[in-house]
Amino acid sequence: MAKTKKTVFFCQSCGYESVKWSGQCPACHEWNTFVEEVLDEGKKISRKGTMAVRPVLLSEITSSQDQRISSGMEELDRVLGGGIVTGSLVLVGGDPGIGKSTLLLQVCQKLSEKHIQVLYVSGEESLQQIRIRADRIGAFTEDLSLLCETNLADIRSVIEKEKPQVVVIDSIQTMFNEEVTSTPGSVSQVRESTGILMQIAKVLGIAVFVVGHVTKEGVVAGPRVLEHMVDTVLYFEGDRHGTYRILRGVKNRFGSTNEIGVFEMRQNGLTEVKNPSEYMLSGKPKGASGSIVACSMEGTRPILVEIQALVCRSVFGMARRTAAGTDYNRINLLMAVMEKSFGMHLSDQDAYVNIAGGIRITEPAIDLGLVLAIYSSYKNQPIDEKIVCFGEVGLSGEVRAVSMVEQRILEAEKMGFETCILPKVSMKGLPQIKGIRLIGVESIRDAVDFLR
Ligand code: TYD
Ligand code: MG
Repeated sequence: MAKTKKTVFFCQSCGYESVKWSGQCPACHEWNTFVEEVLDEGKKISRKGTMAVRPVLLSEITSSQDQRISSGMEELDRVLGGGIVTGSLVLVGGDPGIGKSTLLLQVCQKLSEKHIQVLYVSGEESLQQIRIRADRIGAFTEDLSLLCETNLADIRSVIEKEKPQVVVIDSIQTMFNEEVTSTPGSVSQVRESTGILMQIAKVLGIAVFVVGHVTKEGVVAGPRVLEHMVDTVLYFEGDRHGTYRILRGVKNRFGSTNEIGVFEMRQNGLTEVKNPSEYMLSGKPKGASGSIVACSMEGTRPILVEIQALVCRSVFGMARRTAAGTDYNRINLLMAVMEKSFGMHLSDQDAYVNIAGGIRITEPAIDLGLVLAIYSSYKNQPIDEKIVCFGEVGLSGEVRAVSMVEQRILEAEKMGFETCILPKVSMKGLPQIKGIRLIGVESIRDAVDFLR
């Protein structure tokens, strides 16, 4: 049969397929994302059923509960839900230079120390470059296999021959499959390559880590379908100029999402940060107005963060508001609530809000902290450093209940805080906690009255 080649256009952002080019994608409404790709029509897979396929009873399947390998890094294990699951495909996304390659090379190091066979495939760096990185990280066992290759067919045959337990593919965007004619990094290539890796992972029971680049908008480059195909999606975030790095689980078929792992980038690679609260609060100013510590839950882990606000008279007619590390609209909303509840004139005030430490928090439990920080800055009245707070703020200024109250209080107590302002409704049924005074508040008015 003669091969018929067909050209189609793919949206590079969502994977939408179209026969003609258009400026805006009708599916995701992104502009200028259509790229022409050649499809090979000749290679239609036969849809005829093969062999005897039969369903299996649930009771016949052995549970894969214990088939987890520890990565040797507690923070990564936590995000993965308790270790690397054999036969899973994990996508690690993040900005360029954030430390994806470093993290995965360190995982390879830790695994090979435990005599687990690993294969690190790089399509981006030469063997020498990897060696330089490995020397920086230090102490490598000699039996770590490296491969510089971008052709997936070759990679596959190496994997089938060597049978490693864990494979790292450093960047899916550099991989190509000869059967697909478009360039590496394009939608069809990324999709095909991921499909092949998925098959390798499932059939051979190998855990595969795949690095994915992130676009300007902060999503993994390539179609969204990529995220649907893989088992787990992890994002590496943090300020490239700072030293902390946060690994966040966005999707996880084998564990809870929203768990985070905190790392610090040092001269010799990434180090785990075991106590993030301590880290986030280091450098907190003393006796400054506009600063308060709030407690947020990241997955199952409480983290104390310092909220800073700077409120000052606007020189232009229109007040400026910025929010770093939290939601901008939330700040506007809370300031509107404050105007109503306190009768304060905030509309002609600029407000700059920042969560120190570079972590991004969207949990509503930090609302109370945001309100108090803004209030403190507006009144130029410092808040006692030993006070911590949490609580969601509603539209009429009421302080609403949040989850996992006990864990938050215990974390605050552990970090040496003496007073905790929390929603009054959350105090019901709370066991006695020594060493910290609990102040239950019903509204933001109550909280401010307490501070006065
Ligand atoms: P890298 O892992 O190459 O990033 P990615 O693969 O996500 O693009 O990270 C490289 C950055 O990390 C680079 O800016 C240098 C820095 N770095 C350190 O600070 N210390 C180290 O030990 C290493 C290996 C890298
Ligand atoms: Mg890299």
